[in-house]
Amino acid sequence: MTIAALNWGELSPEKFLAEYWQKKPLLIKQAFKNFKDTIPADELAGLAMEAEIESRIVSVDNKGNWQVDHGPFEDFSQYGEENWTLLVQAVNNWSRPTNSLLQPFAFIPRWRIDDVMVSFSTPNGGVGAHLDQYDVFIIQGSGKRRWQVGAPNKALSTLLPHPDLKQVSAFEPLIDEITEAGDLLYIPPNHPHNGVSIENSVNFSIGFQAPSSQELWSSFADKLIDNNLGELRFSDTARKVTDSSTLISKADQQQLKAFMLEQLEDTALFEQFIGQYLTQSHHALELLMPVNEIDADKLADILSEPEILFMPVSGLKAAITSEAEITLFLNGDSFPIDKQSLPLAELLAEQSPLTTNQVKSFNSCLKNTQLLTSVLNKGYWYIE
Ligand code: SIN
Ligand code: CO
Repeated sequence: MTIAALNWGELSPEKFLAEYWQKKPLLIKQAFKNFKDTIPADELAGLAMEAEIESRIVSVDNKGNWQVDHGPFEDFSQYGEENWTLLVQAVNNWSRPTNSLLQPFAFIPRWRIDDVMVSFSTPNGGVGAHLDQYDVFIIQGSGKRRWQVGAPNKALSTLLPHPDLKQVSAFEPLIDEITEAGDLLYIPPNHPHNGVSIENSVNFSIGFQAPSSQELWSSFADKLIDNNLGELRFSDTARKVTDSSTLISKADQQQLKAFMLEQLEDTALFEQFIGQYLTQSHHALELLMPVNEIDADKLADILSEPEILFMPVSGLKAAITSEAEITLFLNGDSFPIDKQSLPLAELLAEQSPLTTNQVKSFNSCLKNTQLLTSVLNKGYWYIE
C-alpha cells in the first residue's frame, strides 16, 4: 500500500523545515486526501494482546481519576464505551500499510524516525495535557478529535495523576482545532498538547528519535569496550617541569581532551558506531529467519521461481554510511559493502520489494550474492 502524497498546500518540505521543524506547531488540514486507517481497530486491539508489543490503556473517570493499564490485554470490555484510549507502540513493525505512513516524511532521514504509534480513543479519551521530548507528526485517522497545542512555557507545572502518567497544567493553546481524517498535526518537542476524542477515533503518531548526549557517550564507550579499542594509554613524551605539582594544567587538559577526541575523530570507527546505534530498533521486530540457512546454491534455486518477491520485514531501520568505508546498517547490524554492491545496498536500504528478475540481475556478482544471503539469513529480508 502506498499512501497518497502529502498535500503541503502553501508549504513545502523546505519551508516546513525552515519555519516549523523544532520551532512551532502546525496543523495541515487535509494533508492526506481520502485518508483511510492503515489498520482496523480490531487488528490494533489484537496487537495489544501480544506480549512483545508495548501497549497501554489510559482512562479517566468522571471524577477526574486517571488510570494506566499496561498490555498485553486479554479483554477490553471492562473499559466501556468512553473515557479511554488504547496506545500501541511501533505498529509499523507489524503492519506494513502502517509502515508506509513513513513515506511522506522521507524528506527527513529514516534514522531520525523512531516508530508509528497508533491510538484508538473512545469519546473523551486521551492521555491528558503533556509534553514530549521528541517531535511528532500526528495523522488523524477515522473519527474526530479536539487537539490543542501550546508553546513551551516554564510556568506550567508538572502533574502526576498516576505514577505512569506525566501531565502538565492547563496551557494557552496556539492551535485549538477539531481534526478529521487526513489532517496532519506537527508538534515540536516540549510543546504542551492535549488530544481529546470527540467520537471513536484513531491517531497515527510518527515519532522521532533524538539521542541525548549521555546516551551517545555511553554507547560510544560501550562500542570501545566491546571492541577492545580504547586500550591505548595517554603519553606525554614532551613533558616539561611543572611549578605546581597539584595543578591539572590547561595544557594537560587539552592533551587529554585531544587524546579522547582522537577516537571520536576516527571516521571509520564513528561510522560503525553511529550506524549501528541509530538503526537499532527500540521495539521488537518480526524477524523472519529461514529454517535452513540460505547459501548461493539455495538462492539460485529460489530464483528459478519467477513469481516470488524479496521483502524486508516491516519497520526495519536501515542506513548507509560512506565517508570511510561503504557500510549498510540494518537494525544495528553492519554489512560492509563493495563498490559494485552499492546499487543493491541502496535498494535494500530503501526497502523496496525486489522481484525475481531484479534479484537475478544482481546475483551474477558474488558480493551481491553474499549480501543477499546474509540479509535473508539474518531474517531482515524474506521470500514471499
Ligand atoms: C495519542 O493520544 O494518539 C497521542 C498521544 C500524544 O499526544 O503523544
Ligand atoms: Co504527546
